[in-house]
Amino acid sequence: AMIRHYKFNVVMTNTTKLCSSKPIVTVNGKFPGPTIVAREGDTILIKVVNHVKYNVSIHWHGIRQLRTGWADGPAYITQCPIQPGQNYIHNFTLTGQRGTLWWHAHILWLRATVHGAIVILPKLGVPYPFPKPYKEKTIVLGEWWKSDVEELINVASKIGTAPSASDAHTINGHSGSISNCPSQSSYGLPVRAGKTYMLRIINAALNEELFFKIAGHVLTVVEVDAVYTKPYKTDTVYIAPGQTTNVLLTANANAGSNYMVAATTFTDAHIPYDNVTATATLHYIGPTATSVPTFKKTILASLPPQNATWVAAKFTKSLRSLNSREYPARVPSTVDRSLFFTVGLGANPCPSCSKGIRLVAGINNVTFTMPKTALLQAHFFNISGVFTDDFPAKPLNPYDYTAPVKLGVNAATMKGTKLYRLPYNATVQIVLQNTAMILSDNHPFHLHGFNFFEVGRGLGNFNPEKDPKIFNLVDPVERNTVGVPAGGWTAIRFIADNPGVWFMHCHLELHTTWGLKMAFVVDNGHGPDQSLLPPPADLPRC
Ligand code: C2O
Repeated sequence: AMIRHYKFNVVMTNTTKLCSSKPIVTVNGKFPGPTIVAREGDTILIKVVNHVKYNVSIHWHGIRQLRTGWADGPAYITQCPIQPGQNYIHNFTLTGQRGTLWWHAHILWLRATVHGAIVILPKLGVPYPFPKPYKEKTIVLGEWWKSDVEELINVASKIGTAPSASDAHTINGHSGSISNCPSQSSYGLPVRAGKTYMLRIINAALNEELFFKIAGHVLTVVEVDAVYTKPYKTDTVYIAPGQTTNVLLTANANAGSNYMVAATTFTDAHIPYDNVTATATLHYIGPTATSVPTFKKTILASLPPQNATWVAAKFTKSLRSLNSREYPARVPSTVDRSLFFTVGLGANPCPSCSKGIRLVAGINNVTFTMPKTALLQAHFFNISGVFTDDFPAKPLNPYDYTAPVKLGVNAATMKGTKLYRLPYNATVQIVLQNTAMILSDNHPFHLHGFNFFEVGRGLGNFNPEKDPKIFNLVDPVERNTVGVPAGGWTAIRFIADNPGVWFMHCHLELHTTWGLKMAFVVDNGHGPDQSLLPPPADLPRC
């Protein structure tokens, strides 16, 4: 194992897209930002230096951070933000994980432009559980606003509504030919006929679930969220913000041909959404030329409609853990803590807001309030008054979750910085029940500090008698971000073997902003190596 050093300079960078320029926050001047490449077992030290006017913090999405919660990054959860002119070294070891993850800013809406890939290769000499691809490419999907994103959300939160949707999606920073700007350059993916490639796809968009497709080609999913899956062949990948998906692509067309690569919105409900499809080109390089695209016509992809719930559902239901001898699925078969969380959007009265209400979101009707000091510090140093550990294990007043509910009945939420306390090593089951408090929408839920198994999902209200009987406890998909279906539920299980404070939230930034978030506090165990390590000396203070 190696020690790898990275320096992330957070700077303002003038960037032109969709025929207009604006200064954006970037890492090292790049959009998407630099890729971290390491091997399983390596230790990574990343020095983040804040050269901008905003407070900054960076999260390493999906990295387990075993006992190193101080390096996790979400502002006010595990650390105070890095203030302008300050810096912080994130120091962590990649234990028991290999695959594609990503990093992103975890404060304000900065992750719109502050994000990049993390590629964890297997240990030296350890092969993939599938034939070695000829080449690997990272595909980062994003969203682009012509206006200033921070301004947008500030104004929207003042008036209590949703900000406008992005102006374009991006594929590795390019929006492609179907944008409002004809001169917009598009991303090219050169391939050689007969070779197999691995694409490491990341949905880094703020608010949009996406379909990803390559015309004329079948994709084989082999990994999600840095966990190997049974190979699954599909022509469309559904990917929610926060999720990563590795696919094998066999270039089985003729040299000289061109095929459209597309990323387009999937939305169950949420309005407004961005209806601009980002495109790139898969071009077959000739037998002699190196990477020169030919001028043949590009074969277009037929895209699913934007409300194609059935496409997203089929994809999600088809994923299985590899569960091989080398990579067994260790699904908890018993449950120490059984939690039932409603997740949904609601509204609170707001006399000063434009419609008299403020859109909010909540888990068990609790809208999470961000603390003024980091929760992990409050936990470690026993600072009282920062949080309470009385997060409800189930809704206070059960109701018919998928029936539309009138304002003033279940739509209102209470505020609080409430955490749920878990004993070390507890096996935990959470049923995430989507609600129709205001409108029903998919919620990609992300848990920090753990991977979980998705043991079941269904439509309607979860039935505690019937549904657990058909849970998959053998080879359910293991991941860190899962879509809670609109009008339905999903059940996840994990082992609380990582002491610290761990955020759980919807990865649609808009919904997180409205309060669709909570945190777990996991106590230390009693054995050696069962405690949170002490904080590093340079940990940012509030
Ligand atoms: Cu990818 Cu808490 O985030």
